Amino acid sequence: MTVQIVSRSEDQTRAVGERIGRGLAGGDVIALEGGLGAGKTCLTQGIARGLGLPERDVVSPTYTLIHEIRGQRTGKSPGGVRLFHVDLYRIGDADDLENTGFFEAFDDDAVTVVEWADRFPGVFEAPYLQVVLEHTGETERTIRCVAHGHRYRALTDLLAESERA
Ligand SMILES: Nc1ncnc2c1ncn2[C@@H]1O[C@H](COP(=O)(O)OP(=O)(O)O)[C@@H](O)[C@H]1O
Ligand SMILES: [Mg+2]
Repeated sequence: MTVQIVSRSEDQTRAVGERIGRGLAGGDVIALEGGLGAGKTCLTQGIARGLGLPERDVVSPTYTLIHEIRGQRTGKSPGGVRLFHVDLYRIGDADDLENTGFFEAFDDDAVTVVEWADRFPGVFEAPYLQVVLEHTGETERTIRCVAHGHRYRALTDLLAESERA
């Protein structure tokens, strides 16, 4: 199941992320694709908001591969999860990936969002949600969500429904 959404502003992209985030739970994996400036980090901020985590803690990773976002008081979101925000932009090869602790960023009580997931396509196995962001205008982005696995089909169905509303 695929749902395609057109966003015309940063805020709209965050709102799409928020809708995705509200439907997520520990163990979920979101693989983001799209070039520089496509809106991957922006969408991740929305996902944090949807999880009840502080979206301002979601930043463009500089030289850190994995950022962990926790709730301020409990260390977790109201839903009981943390967020691992991963950026593979600077990862050279599979050995690099292994050495940087990427595979530890998958946990049953954390949601993992990965920017530049398409750099390592072999790493992602169903179930996961693939989100492809495309720069289609100065402030326009096309956001295509592709469910891999049954669990994410329910989520893309919900997204499609709220698009129709
Ligand atoms: N509709 C939109 N959605 C998301 N970002 C947008 C949109 N229109 C313009 N922008 C701009 O595009 C950039 C997206 O940045 P960012 O989310 O960091 O991208 P990425 O992480 O994919 O490199 C920001 O500067 C933002 O202001
Ligand atoms: Mg980014």
